[in-house]
Amino acid sequence: LHDEYQKTADWLMSQTKHRPQVAIICGSGLGMLADTLKCQDSFAYADIPGFPQSTVQGHAGQLVFGELKGKTCVCMQGRFHMYEGHSLCKTTFPIRVFKLLGVETLIVTNAAGSLADGFQTGDIMIIKDHINFPGLVGLNPLCGPNDDKFGPRFPAMSGCYDKGLRCLAMEIAKELGVASVLQEGVYAMVGGPNFETIAEARLLHRLGVDAVGMSTAPEVVVATHCGLRVFGLSLITNKVVKSYEDTESVNHEGVLEIGRLRSHTVQQLVTELIDRMEIN
Ligand code: 6GU
Repeated sequence: LHDEYQKTADWLMSQTKHRPQVAIICGSGLGMLADTLKCQDSFAYADIPGFPQSTVQGHAGQLVFGELKGKTCVCMQGRFHMYEGHSLCKTTFPIRVFKLLGVETLIVTNAAGSLADGFQTGDIMIIKDHINFPGLVGLNPLCGPNDDKFGPRFPAMSGCYDKGLRCLAMEIAKELGVASVLQEGVYAMVGGPNFETIAEARLLHRLGVDAVGMSTAPEVVVATHCGLRVFGLSLITNKVVKSYEDTESVNHEGVLEIGRLRSHTVQQLVTELIDRMEIN
């Protein structure tokens, strides 16, 4: 299995001179960040040996290498979700390829619905921690024989969202004047693809979940396993319906629209963070 990741990494290194230090996963409606990279080399997922294919509208499906603020980055424009029918192993395949490319820091972004009472649509939540619901019942990308070359059989997950990067992001938000839309909280991953019932939303709320989405946790688990430093942002695209009196309901178009509206702010935050983060 290590061979499969290595083959893909070797192919990419034969196609581009870039040797990324930072990897960025762009969530729904947040793909424009990749367009700001300098000296781009782009590869459609379909052309990369071993890569799965992305099938969701709003997710472009290419890997973009380039420079951002003098640091070399690789950007996933479009990610893979469990609900597309991919094995979690396939969903997280790019993470281990990034590790083999020399990446040390992973930045994940996603679109999420909010449960926290103080959150508004358009807020940006720094992910402080996650609840991996599929993981809790055994749907975990690390299931199966452990590959000791990547990490330990029983990896610790406390502290998986780097505190230094979270603090730095908060400082940057203040300087950019966007602190009022910045939140910090717990992200929960559910399997999807349907959005939550009201009863499910109430359950999540009572469990202390601040935002819910259908991605990210598997990638962060695999990244933490292989020793990558992780930073995560959720763009709050909607409030989760928690009341039987509420007549509004969530839809994918609305999720993408808020993504486009706030994408500039997310982009600014990530760009500044990359500029100011220390790299070994
Ligand atoms: Cl309300 N739920 C889930 N599971 N994912 C979302 C969402 C809601 N809004 C955006 N992504």
